[in-house]
Amino acid sequence: MSVLVTGGAGYIGSVTAEALRARGREVVVLDDLSTGHRAAVPDGVSFLRGSAGNAALLGDLLRRREITSVMHFAARSIVAESVADPALYWRINVDETLALLGALREPGIRHFIFSSSAAVYEGGEGTALSEKSPLAPGNPYGATKAAVERALADFSSAYGMRAVSLRYFNAAGATSSHGEDHRPETHLVPLALRAARGEGGELDLYGTDYPTRDGTCVRDYVHVSDLADAHVLALEALEAGYPGGALNLGNGRGFSVREVIETVEDVTGRRVPVREAPRRPGDPGTLVAGSEKAREDLGWRPRFAAIREIIASAAAWMETHPGGYGPAGPGPAEGGA
Ligand SMILES: NC(=O)c1ccc[n+]([C@@H]2O[C@H](COP(=O)([O-])OP(=O)(O)OC[C@H]3O[C@@H](n4cnc5c(N)ncnc54)[C@H](O)[C@@H]3O)[C@@H](O)[C@H]2O)c1
Repeated sequence: MSVLVTGGAGYIGSVTAEALRARGREVVVLDDLSTGHRAAVPDGVSFLRGSAGNAALLGDLLRRREITSVMHFAARSIVAESVADPALYWRINVDETLALLGALREPGIRHFIFSSSAAVYEGGEGTALSEKSPLAPGNPYGATKAAVERALADFSSAYGMRAVSLRYFNAAGATSSHGEDHRPETHLVPLALRAARGEGGELDLYGTDYPTRDGTCVRDYVHVSDLADAHVLALEALEAGYPGGALNLGNGRGFSVREVIETVEDVTGRRVPVREAPRRPGDPGTLVAGSEKAREDLGWRPRFAAIREIIASAAAWMETHPGGYGPAGPGPAEGGA
């Protein structure tokens, strides 16, 4: 019995693959390495390089390996890129997911865990978002996540599969072996840490006129290991008969961009050079999670709720991995899963 992890060479997928291995699960990673790294795939995990929507490859893989559940991380996830090229996002995030779901129907794979996002929400002005808050994605990226969630709900009613959509807020932090290495990097914590190290010049601060306490965007940062734990708990819940649905994953506390920068300065003892820039299209002012449902339904308890601890773990990984996972590029073609 194996768990198929699409996107397991990426940031959150690789940490989750590691958490699954630590629980003694067999794991197969399927990743096209478009934004991930072969070196991020944990030891003891089978790796297959390919697209998550490749029906022929999936059919073969599902026949050869005893896959009983799927965690689907593979996606594009840069909001500004989705605004500039929505076709790319609908193709990769929606078409490929539908192809994956199609391939899972015949062998009757019933447990599916989907990487959704806070971007499905309209965004509030202070109050924490619950799963009942209105879904009104402000950008194509969020719209593709909402579309897949809807497809999963329909597939669950019609085909007897059970799916959990985990709506992550802002993933951050690192384990001792795995950290954040997006190329290009668009996430605040690694960008601020790099700027503090004197790499990459000034940090762009997008928008200082939001209706927040200091005018900068407020986000809810959740440690990547806590996200990984939630996936393991969701899988165990589905296996025990949990009906599925959407769950927020966040800490329930928002930090402004300026507060994150100050914490990075405090943790590193170095100044972060900042350049103020206009708002980016599609960025809501405040996104903070109410995660009571994940706590109640899954028994999830974030272990790293303090922003300082989250940032310190990311800083430590950057110290030990100054070049991230190494040179960019997919490396030689591989099979073997
Ligand atoms: N990082 C965050 O803060 C955050 C927040 C909310 C939701 N999410 C979602 O979580 C998931 C993982 O995010 P991440 O930050 O780890 O991203 P990531 O880019 O590090 O990982 C994505 C992985 O998927 C792979 N991939 C992309 N398209 C693929 C395809 N068509 N076929 C096979 N592999 C493919 C990439 O090579 C990469 O390894 C994404 O679905 C993202 O939308 C992330």
